[in-house]
Amino acid sequence: MKTSRRVILAITGASGAALGIRTLALLREAGMETHLVISTAAKQTIEVETGWSEADVSALANYCYEPEEISAKLASGSFVTEGMMVVPCSIKTLSAVANSYNNDLIARAADVCLKEGRKVILVVRETPLHRGHLRLMDQAAASGAVIFPAIPTFYAGHQSMEDIITDLAGRILLRFGIANSAYSQWMGDGNIDENQSK
Ligand SMILES: Cc1cc2nc3c(=O)[nH]c(=O)nc-3n(C[C@H](O)[C@H](O)[C@H](O)COP(=O)(O)O)c2cc1C
Repeated sequence: MKTSRRVILAITGASGAALGIRTLALLREAGMETHLVISTAAKQTIEVETGWSEADVSALANYCYEPEEISAKLASGSFVTEGMMVVPCSIKTLSAVANSYNNDLIARAADVCLKEGRKVILVVRETPLHRGHLRLMDQAAASGAVIFPAIPTFYAGHQSMEDIITDLAGRILLRFGIANSAYSQWMGDGNIDENQSK
């Protein structure tokens, strides 16, 4: 039975579609088997924020699903994966995951991963945050999700948005447990090992 190195990636309609795309590209470079769900709203943000077409993004993944496909294999714990990343994660999807409100494949797949004790990383992108948002993050974290806000590595001194995005995507993979060289490493005393795959 093939079960390893399989990861679910959802791109939702928070700002930062480019971060989701870069994460997908890094997963591909790392040799992961990727299962991609792009939310209906993310289809818009991809168009508005990036020069990518949905088809080109989907072509980076091994398998693609529509958010309405609630009978897809990702909806069952019997389909074994290492876990799921939601990059970027909207407040709406955060709320769905926190409340097990599984009305689309993204929320359902995340809920399945949590109930099976698998990794779930929510790259929440919103600012500023009210207490309701903070409560939702706390609630999702209590169920086992990792809250990974889309916050740049300021100390790395990146000059371009592209470098900031690559660094952040590398850190997301690192948190998931996937070795990569896309992020800058703090070496102490102001020194940075800029190990980026530019
Ligand atoms: C250009 C654009 C940027 C958006 N940015 C954010 C954001 O940063 N955070 C957020 O929570 N929602 C943001 N939204 C709103 C979400 O897209 C909206 O709440 C949507 O219903 C989320 O659905 P989804 O989670 O299924 O993708 C944005 C919408 C657009 C069109």
